[in-house]
Amino acid sequence: MTYATGLTNHDGGSASVSPLISISNVDYTLTFESTPLQILKNVSLEVAPAQVVAIVGPSGSGKTSLLMLLGALERPTAGKVRIAGQDLEGLSEDSLAAFRRKTLGIVFQSFYLIPSLTALDNVSLALEIAEPGLSLAEARERSAKALDAVGLGSRIHHRPSALSGGEQQRVGLARAMIARPKLLLADEPTGNLDQNTGAKVIELMFDMARQQHAAVIFVTHDPALAARADRMLTMTRGELTEVPK
Ligand SMILES: Nc1ncnc2c1ncn2[C@@H]1O[C@H](COP(=O)(O)OP(=O)(O)OP(=O)(O)O)[C@@H](O)[C@H]1O
Ligand SMILES: [Mg+2]
Repeated sequence: MTYATGLTNHDGGSASVSPLISISNVDYTLTFESTPLQILKNVSLEVAPAQVVAIVGPSGSGKTSLLMLLGALERPTAGKVRIAGQDLEGLSEDSLAAFRRKTLGIVFQSFYLIPSLTALDNVSLALEIAEPGLSLAEARERSAKALDAVGLGSRIHHRPSALSGGEQQRVGLARAMIARPKLLLADEPTGNLDQNTGAKVIELMFDMARQQHAAVIFVTHDPALAARADRMLTMTRGELTEVPK
């Protein structure tokens, strides 16, 4: 099979391409008030380039924690995390930051746009950080195009407070995808949106990922949105299992 379009169904591992994500036997334990708390238990997962994966599961089961490990924002207690051919173990904090800038886009439930900056400057700032050699004019031109592509061409000079929730999340998506990441991590990206707006944002997220051949891992509590991914996984008390299609 080919993963070129990114939306082919997972076939159980006969892919000829090397996986974009490969995590094996990952444990993640935090110590809280001197009691060890096992958040993730022996989690293994392979994701092909351009594959779209939904993660569902109860509150507190470890979904955000898994995204933090995939986003190189936390380190596992045991096991291996390899993303885009890069083994994250042993990388310094600076190398991890460089890895994040080069490889990842992240979308959050609460959007986290910078309130004092316009939509254009929110996106442009992310691009300037990811590609420091770029001229300001070039960064702004590419950012304006990205905002146009998410349907906000006439809103680029608005600040977040002048945008609806769905519009703010579209800015969040444009910002996450502007530096063409190989992997988009989205933690309940539609959690603050009504169902209809949320479905449109997810549609847009799938379209952008497909165009850029980016893989997507998104967490959602909405089974209808999860069902639209190539694969669905359930997190239950720190254990991750594939839901057969
Ligand atoms: N810094 C921390 N210190 C102690 N416990 C933590 C910390 N961060 C997370 N936890 C615990 O880890 C568990 C998993 O949390 P996580 O945020 O990954 O869950 P989740 O599946 O994303 O839940 P939700 O659907 O509510 O967002 C929870 O029991 C949480 O209380
Ligand atoms: Mg969470």
